Amino acid sequence: QAAEKAGFEHFMMKEIHEQPKAIKDTLGSVVKDGKIDLSNVGLAKEDIENISQIHIVACGSAWHVGMVAQYVIEDLARIPVRVELASEFRYRNPIIDKDALVIIISQSGETADSLAALREAKSRGIKTLSIVNVVGSSIAREADNVFYTLAGPEISVATTKAYSTQLIASYILAIEFAMVRGQINQEQYDGFLSELSELPDKIQKIIDDKERLQWFASKQANAKDIFFVGRGIDYAISLEGSLKLKEISYIHSEAYAAGELKHGTISLIEDGTLVIGVLTQNGLYEKTISNMVECKSRGAYLMGLTTYGNYNIEDTVEFATYIPKTDEHFAASLAVIPLQLLAYYVSVAKGLDVDKPRNLAKSVTVE
Ligand code: G6P
Repeated sequence: QAAEKAGFEHFMMKEIHEQPKAIKDTLGSVVKDGKIDLSNVGLAKEDIENISQIHIVACGSAWHVGMVAQYVIEDLARIPVRVELASEFRYRNPIIDKDALVIIISQSGETADSLAALREAKSRGIKTLSIVNVVGSSIAREADNVFYTLAGPEISVATTKAYSTQLIASYILAIEFAMVRGQINQEQYDGFLSELSELPDKIQKIIDDKERLQWFASKQANAKDIFFVGRGIDYAISLEGSLKLKEISYIHSEAYAAGELKHGTISLIEDGTLVIGVLTQNGLYEKTISNMVECKSRGAYLMGLTTYGNYNIEDTVEFATYIPKTDEHFAASLAVIPLQLLAYYVSVAKGLDVDKPRNLAKSVTVE
């Protein structure tokens, strides 16, 4: 196993470092000569034109990808999207339009609830597309169309590179749907694809800067509760950051849409409680800052995760971490990296089994 870790202490860190390549490979499989080519996925133009609504169904981190995808697909392609937990979808007798597309996202392609949700959609004659990492897995085999992510084998229970490639697949679908349906022009299309091609290098830059996060994380080992807040895509990123942290550090953590704090969670803020604000969406920046200030005035200790240039965040937070600029639709791909690193380093600081956290399985094949 030591050899397989390629010099890293844990698979999770190795897989965090593999993200630039995993993204490049996934992009390379569907973008050819500056154009999206979904012939391997099998989605034809007419299929895309006819989609009346999209249901994204998944579990765990894959569901968090769905949360990001919802914002991106709705904003770019203007198709209504609903994101659902597979374990809920399968039992609620969902109302699905006959021209809907059901998208199942799953790293393993074997998650019991996701597979059952896929079968439920198919039994109603609804068109299905899966975004899957493991070739030939049940969900890949049974869905009408498959978009394979090329993350390679993921060993660490806490997903990193599979999550990142699932985001890429979602962006590609959003851009292609938007173009086919006349919602964006050629210039915007080219601009989006060029932004995507720059993500691997930007991620590498964040990874190269990991020591500052290690230093900050090592001070959080005794935290009792940690809250993540954000709005829009930043809320979706917060959900993933919070899950990553609780999975491997065993610290209680929750993610909240920043505007909801006042409706309950703020009562949990005590002196020194860490609140992490995610602020990659410029139009929502001031709103989230003001929610963070409200937490601070109740004793919270603040970390801010934002884009280079927003240095005035340091007037508000105790610790700031920055990500390179990108089109805001794709910011999740960058913002998740410091949150993966944070979770990793807190787990290491606590001396826990990073790759095999207690009570969790890599693939949940029973209900
Ligand atoms: C487990 C894993 C998570 C994963 C979820 C869904 O809970 O620990 O990392 O997000 O299952 O798995 P899937 O293989 O369907 O993506």
